[in-house]
Amino acid sequence: MTAQPQRKDDRLWGGRFEREPDKQFDAFQRSFAFDRRLLPYELAVDRAWAKALQGVGILSAAEVHDTLLALDNIAKEFAADPSFLESPTAEDVHHFVESALVHELGALGWKLHTGRSRNELVATDFRLFVMDAAKQVQSGLVGLLTAFLEQAKTHFGVPMAGMTHMQHAQPILLSHFLLAHAEAFSRDLTRLQHAAESADACPMGSGALAGNSFGIDRNAIARELGFSRITANSLDAVSDRDFALDYLFALAGIATHLSRLAEDFVIFASQEFAYVILPDEYSTGSSLMPQKKNPDAWELMRGKTGRITGALLGLLTTLKGLPTSYQRDLQEDKEALFSAHDQVSDMLAVATGALAATKFNAERLRAAASNPALFATDAADYLVHRGVPFRQAHDLVGQVLREAERQGKPWTQLTLEEVQKISPLFEEDFLTGPSLEDVIANKVVLGGTAPEPVRAAMAILQNRITQLNSKLGAKP
Ligand code: ARG
Repeated sequence: MTAQPQRKDDRLWGGRFEREPDKQFDAFQRSFAFDRRLLPYELAVDRAWAKALQGVGILSAAEVHDTLLALDNIAKEFAADPSFLESPTAEDVHHFVESALVHELGALGWKLHTGRSRNELVATDFRLFVMDAAKQVQSGLVGLLTAFLEQAKTHFGVPMAGMTHMQHAQPILLSHFLLAHAEAFSRDLTRLQHAAESADACPMGSGALAGNSFGIDRNAIARELGFSRITANSLDAVSDRDFALDYLFALAGIATHLSRLAEDFVIFASQEFAYVILPDEYSTGSSLMPQKKNPDAWELMRGKTGRITGALLGLLTTLKGLPTSYQRDLQEDKEALFSAHDQVSDMLAVATGALAATKFNAERLRAAASNPALFATDAADYLVHRGVPFRQAHDLVGQVLREAERQGKPWTQLTLEEVQKISPLFEEDFLTGPSLEDVIANKVVLGGTAPEPVRAAMAILQNRITQLNSKLGAKP
């Protein structure tokens, strides 16, 4: 260790102050407890900045060499023992690294902050975090999509009662239902991509607000850090958190979709439905009632969605009153975003496991789908094919259903005489009714629930997953 050089105190800004900060305020203004998570990004930015300073003659090659070594040491110390980050004095991650550098390098450690500000540092670190985070969550989503595809393949051909307003509507394939959720999560992938792209611009060189006086090469720094472009306006660069909003919006979208999936499964697991059998691994029991198996995994997913949405609303609210440029309020951007990222990552992992382990009760599903009441639309179509205008056909079948309801039997069990009283256009084959299979097979339109388009949709999803896996570097 080099002998400690002297400064009035270790603060980054103490020179003009006569008195110490109030203790409570000092604790209040620190962000190290949460922004230390940005350490790897801070070190990467420091490396790039040291080289940039060499490029403009502020640091010699030897000084850069020593600085890079010291930065590596900080990374190693942290890797060896995360308690290395327990610092009672660090104000934030930027202060922590500068103190650690000075500890290693003496006065040379004070040179690195030449021409730069924490305002651009924190924006840069945070953007790098969001770019990585979005990619991680994309991988989580691909895992979930894979679980949907597997279940859709396993249960291909199982019918269920499709619902609107939670009322039985028309028969569909269970696979079609599963793929509907997969579509929603596929849109989340696009939103994450958008968030990563909006984060992908490097602020370094923006200074505290006005830019840099040393002539540093902003594009070189951006390239070294893996950004594909630089921010356009120094004032905007230190105050912009739109990328964080975009990321939170993407996370809130995922959470909302998970919450809706959760709601479906909570309902399907109820005794009234009994469409799914909850996996033991993802359920809990009651401390009082021995028979209970509760869908806690799904309920918690639904419950946690509130705070993800809250994180988005919180940041929107923080940003709305801010004057242009950096304001300390912006420090409030990180905690909620980190937590939302962690929660959504966990939610995706649990949802993937729970979905994969869920057993579907094919008999119950088929029984509900087989009720002829669900074929009423097809019964109206029967008349349409005989030239009756649809609205009239709808009325006539409505009367058939009313008569069946009055007699307390399915409409297919009425007599020919009874239905011909309603319309002479009904013939013997009307009462045989369409088969469940036919009703589903007729929905052969693109995007419909017939086996053919559902098989095509599974192939498209399989393709999407394969492409994403190769893009995200995961094993197929
Ligand atoms: N810790 C701050 C943040 O998270 C960065 C420091 C900027 N501080 C300042 N006084 N300009 O936003």
